[in-house]
Parts: sequence; C-alpha cells; structure tokens
Amino acid sequence: MQDILITGLATLDLVFKMDSLPVQNEKYRAETAMFSGGGNAGNASVAVARLGANSTIFSAVGCDEVGSFILGELKRENVNTEFVLKLENWQSSFSSVLVDIDGDRQIVNYRESLPEDAINSISNFPVYDAYLSDSRWSEAAIATLSLARKYKKPGVLDAEAPVSQHAVEIASHVAFSKQGLKHFTNKDDLMASLKVIENDYNSWACVTDGPNGVYFLEEGALHNLPTPRIKAEDTLGAGDVWHGAFAVCLAEGKSEREAIKFSNLAAAIKCTRFGGQSSIPTRREIDEFINSK
Ligand SMILES: Nc1ncnc2c1ncn2[C@@H]1O[C@H](COP(=O)(O)OP(=O)(O)OP(=O)(O)O)[C@@H](O)[C@H]1O
Ligand SMILES: [Mg+2]
Repeated sequence: MQDILITGLATLDLVFKMDSLPVQNEKYRAETAMFSGGGNAGNASVAVARLGANSTIFSAVGCDEVGSFILGELKRENVNTEFVLKLENWQSSFSSVLVDIDGDRQIVNYRESLPEDAINSISNFPVYDAYLSDSRWSEAAIATLSLARKYKKPGVLDAEAPVSQHAVEIASHVAFSKQGLKHFTNKDDLMASLKVIENDYNSWACVTDGPNGVYFLEEGALHNLPTPRIKAEDTLGAGDVWHGAFAVCLAEGKSEREAIKFSNLAAAIKCTRFGGQSSIPTRREIDEFINSK
C-alpha cells in the first residue's frame, strides 16, 4: 500500500444545491443541502484514502466546533490526522458553496493565515511514496515539495491562483487549474504557457480544464487526454479528487499519461453526483466504471 502525504487546506463546506446561482439581494431556498468536509487538501486526502492508499494530511484547524467537525470527517474517511495542527485563538476555515443545475459551483471561503513556525514539525515526518500540496498554504507546499525532492519521490503541486514561483520550481509535477496557469504565466495560450513552465522551471506540467480533460506537452507538442462525457451534477472538488488520484498513480509508478487517464475517470465519476466528500469515488467504483466500457 502506498503512503501519501497531502498538505494544505481543510475546511467545512456548507453546500447548497440550487436551480440557479443567486444574483439578487433576496432570500433563496436550496433544493438540497449538506455539511461536508472540504478544502483542496481535505478533499484530496479523502480521495487518496478511498483509492486504497495510506493517506496522511498536514493541515491546521482551530480549537473550535468547525475544527472538530473537519477532523471527525477526515478520521471517518480513514485519513491519518495525527499531524494536523490544533491552534488556539485561530478560527477553522469554512466555505459557503452553491452548486447549480449544471453542476457548476460558486465558493466563498474564509481562512486565516498561519504563523510562520506552523510548518516546523514537517521536517520530522516519515518518508512517503508521494507528496501532494495545494497552493492555499504556500509555506507548507514549499516544505512538502522540498521533502519530496530530498527523498527523490514525486512531489505534485495543485496549482490554483495565486501560485508560488518557488513551489513550481521545486515540484516534480505541477498540475495547474486553467485559471491558475493563466494567472501564473499571464498568457491565454495553453501551449505557450506550458512551455514557460517546462523551459523556465524545468518541471513536468499539465493543466486541467474541466469537461475538456487535461492538456500537457510531449516532445514539444500539446496533447489532450479527454475526460468521460457525463451529466455533471456537482463539480465541487473535482480538481482535488483529480490531484489525489494523480499522486496515488505516480506513487504506484504509473506513467504521467496513465495517471492522467485514471485521474480523469476518478474526477468525472465524482462530478456525476452531489454530496461533498461522500461523492468521491472508491477504487472499486472506478474499476467497475472501466469494466463497464
Ligand atoms: N463536467 C465535467 N465532466 C467530466 N469531467 C470533469 C468535469 N469537470 C471536471 N472534470 C474532471 O476534473 C478535472 C479537474 O477539474 P477542473 O479543471 O475543473 O479543476 P479546478 O479548476 O481545479 O476546479 P476544482 O479544484 O475547484 O474542482 C478535469 O480535468 C476533468 O478530468
Ligand atoms: Mg482545483
């Protein structure tokens, strides 16, 4: 079984399913709603556990009820939370999430910044088979990706804006969101942007593009690996599931192409159902999907 370390943001998400996203200063009623664990690292760590790997998260919560909820959900999903910081006088992060009839989501997140010394414990962590960091906690991303580099293991950066240049430099694999890549390179053209990452940062890079799948460079040409066509119910956390699956595949020694194909499946299945972290697929569900084709 592979051991994966995931660092970054863990939240409580208050998720509301609506016909359309509110535009007026009025009161609205949701069709369905739920509390769920969330955050890039939180969701990715649950995806890693559901794919059958040993999942350890490095994140922070406050000593409050939201923090207890976040930790409880992660533990219930078999994520190892022993390294999660429990900070006094610090408010746990939470989000309001609205999902419309097409599965598109709108998120308002509150998070406090973390003290500089919050990452100190990371140097005592054991060695993992792969490392994954989001860009919500830059110092932790840099510390995590440095460990990956030191131990010659895959170090994946989930690059959503704003992205740290240093983190891109030291990651072995940078998987940008479309918005993250544009924000980082200031270019609209995917190929030109990915070439900047390959040439100036010497990192393998790709960009996830929602229902259009994933774009990456191979021998100087732009390649696309499509994601399955599905009826999207809820795309919340699709990218996080994708990154968790990608890290697991690299830890298992799969090629980047194989890892992208598998991660596209995992993320697409997640999008077919509403339900926060409970809608993240297991390895068995993904295998069944593959065998049904
Ligand atoms: N509507 C969809 N249909 C099929 N697959 C999807 C869909 N939306 C997302 N995916 C899969 O999930 C991957 C990641 O999605 P996306 O690029 O939207 O992530 P993101 O922009 O980082 O957003 P987030 O992390 O908030 O989900 C895509 O590359 C694709 O494989
Ligand atoms: Mg994302």
